[in-house]
Amino acid sequence: MAAPVDTTKVFLPDTLKGKVAFITGGGSGICKGIAEALMRHGAKTVIASRNLERVTKAAEEMTKNIGGECFAVSADVRNPEDVEKAVAKAVEKFGGIDILINGAAGNFLVPAENMSYNAFRTVIEIDLIGTFNVSKACFPHLKKSKGSIINISATLHYNGTPLQAHASSAKAGVDTLTKGLALEWGPYGIRVNGIAPGPISETTGIDRLLPKDYIKGYVRAVPMQRLGKIRDIEHMAVFLASQGANWISGSNFVVDGGAWLTGNAYQYPDSMERMRKASKL
Ligand code: COA
Ligand code: NAP
Repeated sequence: MAAPVDTTKVFLPDTLKGKVAFITGGGSGICKGIAEALMRHGAKTVIASRNLERVTKAAEEMTKNIGGECFAVSADVRNPEDVEKAVAKAVEKFGGIDILINGAAGNFLVPAENMSYNAFRTVIEIDLIGTFNVSKACFPHLKKSKGSIINISATLHYNGTPLQAHASSAKAGVDTLTKGLALEWGPYGIRVNGIAPGPISETTGIDRLLPKDYIKGYVRAVPMQRLGKIRDIEHMAVFLASQGANWISGSNFVVDGGAWLTGNAYQYPDSMERMRKASKL
């Protein structure tokens, strides 16, 4: 049997040498994993979120564990002034920006009929308007570097997802923004792509959105028969940020073990069970 693969060594360690990445939501979960992966491949990182203590702690931890440089800044992506200041600090620190990861997001389960007006607006503002704000603030620097944007999306909107009307709508908008910016900014040499993760274990997202009682049924409906790992998403981010993806722009990449193909099974896991029994599978 082949020796187990070291999943930190899928790409060459200098794949992103000399690059600077600005990562919103980089202090936790999937985007902290992406920040670590970009650093392992030679990039300097700037991680941004509302909670300066959280990003500062994450930056210290990543620098200690991986080496290289990580700079923490606070910003609420809903606030363009905040975002402009954070981007200016990043450029002052590292001299430019080559890679932007738009990962900041908010989500919680709530039936649409009980969702307050402000709850819907809040999630649209963080996910969609936040992605535009940060992209626009980074644009002059990405134009200079002929850089690349990666928007962290989801598959929620492919079939619609109950109890997440706000986040589904926001991510649908993010995917459309990915295409629009790819069209407009391609001639400047800027590539814009999206990653749509399926449910990823050990994240706030899964804790909030996939009730524990659902997980077993859900996993049975995933063609690859498991939840995602943060590392699964990291690999796609390193690839999309690299020269290997030089001709790729305007695309959304689903990284979910094939789960989106069984969208209805995700929403109604018992219907999948019933189908299996009825088909004697
Ligand atoms: N159910 C129903 N409504 C909720 C809610 C929940 N679980 N959580 C928040 N809301 C509503 C609030 O009641 C408020 O509406 P109101 O003013 O009409 O009462 C509105 O949403 C905004 O909430 P608030 O707490 O003021 O927003 P915030 O800007 O401080 O925080 C959130 C943003 C709500 C998205 C918060 O959950 C957050 O910070 N999330 C980041 C982490 C995260 O969501 N990770 C998962 C990513 S997939
Ligand atoms: P997470 O750890 O909660 O990450 C969200 C991050 O966004 C936090 O670091 C948070 O930091 C930051 N943030 C929230 N609101 C912000 C704001 N207004 N301004 C700036 N930063 C803000 O969640 P996660 O589960 O890893 O999710 C990361 C990304 O993957 C999100 O885009 C999510 O939609 C997507 N995704 C996740 C899953 C999953 O299974 N987890 C599946 C599909 C897609 P502060 O609180 O410090 O601001």
